[in-house]
Amino acid sequence: MNDTVHHEPIVLGIESSCDETGIGIVQGTRLLANAVASSMDEHARFGGVVPEVAARAHVQAFGPTLRQALDTAGLGIDDVDAIAVTAGPGLAGALMVGVAAAKGLSLGSGKPLYAVNHLAGHVGAEILDSGSLATPTVALLVSGGHTSLLLVRDLVDDIELLGETIDDAAGEAFDKVARLLGLGYPGGPRIQRAAAEGDPKAIRFPRGLSTAKDLRAHPYDFSFSGLKTAVARWVSLAETRAAADAGHPIDVGGELDEAAAAAARADLPIADIAASFQEAVVDVLVTKALAACENLGVPRLLLGGGVVANARLREVAAERCAAAGVELRIPDLSLCTDNGAMIASLGAQLVAAGKPPTGLAFGADSTLPVTESYLAPNA
Ligand code: KG4
Ligand code: ZN
Repeated sequence: MNDTVHHEPIVLGIESSCDETGIGIVQGTRLLANAVASSMDEHARFGGVVPEVAARAHVQAFGPTLRQALDTAGLGIDDVDAIAVTAGPGLAGALMVGVAAAKGLSLGSGKPLYAVNHLAGHVGAEILDSGSLATPTVALLVSGGHTSLLLVRDLVDDIELLGETIDDAAGEAFDKVARLLGLGYPGGPRIQRAAAEGDPKAIRFPRGLSTAKDLRAHPYDFSFSGLKTAVARWVSLAETRAAADAGHPIDVGGELDEAAAAAARADLPIADIAASFQEAVVDVLVTKALAACENLGVPRLLLGGGVVANARLREVAAERCAAAGVELRIPDLSLCTDNGAMIASLGAQLVAAGKPPTGLAFGADSTLPVTESYLAPNA
């Protein structure tokens, strides 16, 4: 860091861990720009993010998104004091594009580079939304790529991973079940829309890792693949029953002929299935997050990640936090979904804490643990 800097440090953040190319600029705790390009539409026909497609989209989006962020902030790269980039966790090929671009930018501009943790970045988003981060806080990060429960005592120096998904991420579960129900991609918003007309109590879907035995071994871990399978089985049984009721032939393997399957599918109670599935996801997320608050004596819960867009999650979290006397913080949605501003915000905290920049000798790390808020030099 250049010692002629007397203002609050201006940090440019680069995010490319999944399907959003994000470039954000912050000054201290203040948001100056948050430019995001998403390749979501390009993944729609595959029903989920395709890493190769995402990586190529980052290459194309980087230049224009950088330009847009600098223009919005009214700054040139020379006005920036430091650059922060997501080093992980995330999709390896996607991360590499942002990391390579950040190194080039750092080398070309002479600005110090911080390689930071994406999950810690989600927590850093709160600082831009409310001006500070109240600690200790439990943080629940839910997106298409992660489902993590954290205990944050200090954003820079003390984050503990309490638990995470052992299979699918929460958003991934929404995407897979939406595909199963023929609702399309991304699944979250479509399930939510379908669920609005349905009864969340119509079907009692399983809550993953929630039996007494599971809770002892995995108090704060999540599992959504059993739920997805339960929905698939329920749908298949309902279709078979509907076909049998309508007098269609069913072979010994339980297979329906095409006409019978189409007719049975048209009769599925999509709204009730969607509402009941959504309720199961939301219930287990909020139950485990609040159990962490209670067991650890932490009176705060912060939410982050794209699944926070879910209205039912926000509603249930608000109700149960109020009942438990836990303060709930949900940053603006534009800061909850993947973006560069949250990465810049974490970078600004590292600069403020006097941490030395990472430099150029590091690589993307798709499994970077959340206990490392950033990669220290020569680590
Ligand atoms: O944070 P995010 O934008 O980044 C990725 O993980 O790519 O999160 C996207 C995820 C997708 O899985 C999407 O289905 C989910 O967030 N999502 C939702 C809603 N809106 C987006 N899930 C549930 N309800 C929603 N309204
Ligand atoms: Zn994320």
